[in-house]
Amino acid sequence: MNCPDMERKINKTLVLSAQDVQQVVLQKELNKVMDTLIERLEKALQSYHPDEVKTPMRSGFNYENPVTGLIEWMPLYHKGNDVVMKVVGYHPDNPSKRNLPTIISSISIYCTKTGHLKGIIDGVLPTALRTGASSAVISKILAKKDAKIFGLIGCGAQAVTQLHALSRVFDFEKILIYDSDESTINSFQKRITALNLNVSIQASDVTKIVEQSDILCTATSIDVGAGPLFNGVQSKAHLHINAVGSDFPGKIEIPLSFLQESFVCPDFKQQALVEGECQQLEDKYIGADWVEVIQNQENFTKYSHQKTIFDSTGWALEDWVVTNLFMEYALELGLGTEIELESILEDAKNPYEFISEMPVETLILREVEYMKSELK
Ligand SMILES: NC(=O)c1ccc[n+]([C@@H]2O[C@H](COP(=O)([O-])OP(=O)(O)OC[C@H]3O[C@@H](n4cnc5c(N)ncnc54)[C@H](O)[C@@H]3O)[C@@H](O)[C@H]2O)c1
Repeated sequence: MNCPDMERKINKTLVLSAQDVQQVVLQKELNKVMDTLIERLEKALQSYHPDEVKTPMRSGFNYENPVTGLIEWMPLYHKGNDVVMKVVGYHPDNPSKRNLPTIISSISIYCTKTGHLKGIIDGVLPTALRTGASSAVISKILAKKDAKIFGLIGCGAQAVTQLHALSRVFDFEKILIYDSDESTINSFQKRITALNLNVSIQASDVTKIVEQSDILCTATSIDVGAGPLFNGVQSKAHLHINAVGSDFPGKIEIPLSFLQESFVCPDFKQQALVEGECQQLEDKYIGADWVEVIQNQENFTKYSHQKTIFDSTGWALEDWVVTNLFMEYALELGLGTEIELESILEDAKNPYEFISEMPVETLILREVEYMKSELK
């Protein structure tokens, strides 16, 4: 899989703004986008081979000043094809203090023949979509097929797409929700209007959600050192958890004892050991990773009768799949704006070419004016 061909105009970068991404969703239909994304992600995981697709661990800066947050970069190189890189910010005070999403990102596509930036796309909505789709892909294998009760702890932006994606593959009867912020609980029903779900949504508490859910998604912005979200709670024997919120050293949502009793599947083990729930675990408690489970599904469906956890930290492969999909749709629908971002001139060896083309008198006049201003 490769990003759609944008090479025909070497000096043009295709920009897909938030409005373009939204137009893709509106014109293609929200459920079709999610269903296609789930399907594409499954295919990408089935055919993934580390010799073909390189995904070095993400890196970044975390800081306390001016606010607590981090900016990190998540690169992927599809051998012989493009480099795709998401740059993502996590600033948990954004919603309450600045009315901005906690996760803000953009995704760039680079040509490996020339270094040219072929495209750049909003990453906010694509990230939420692909994070939901990822939980759906793994839940199809590890969760009970007839799961009826879906729990959500943390009801922010990711919770909306978790519910959307999961409800595309399960027929839920009841959704139990909890968030430490009451206004977030109160606004949840309104925020999922677009999903048009005929299902009961009930505010609950963490204990009841863990006890009653068949599938649970934890998507909180819990502070480093403040986890886990629950302790000493009995769950159903087959509970499957998509643990989405733990993606930073010291930030955890699931108690150690619960992890030790469960089949734990990390999305990207190397990263999950540093940032995910796996940072709490000795190697013997960590199960097969996401790729292994997807590529050998028949060996893992038996776990749907046991406690299972998807340790979702976020992997560049997911961003690659969603970027390809949106670029493909945008080209088909004629969306996006082409800009000349890079200085690509007729004479590749003269970065001053644009100056050389100006009349000599103008250049001299400008130089004299500059010298005069310096003398003042
Ligand atoms: N795994 C991935 O690929 C991936 C992708 C995107 C985001 N994330 C992570 O998912 C989490 C949620 O992201 P978001 O965009 O929905 O953020 P958000 O700010 O929109 O929502 C997070 C919610 O968690 C709530 N919360 C915080 N502490 C809580 C607690 N102790 N108990 C219950 N609720 C609590 C907040 O009130 C907030 O409503 C973040 O930690 C983010 O880093 C992971």
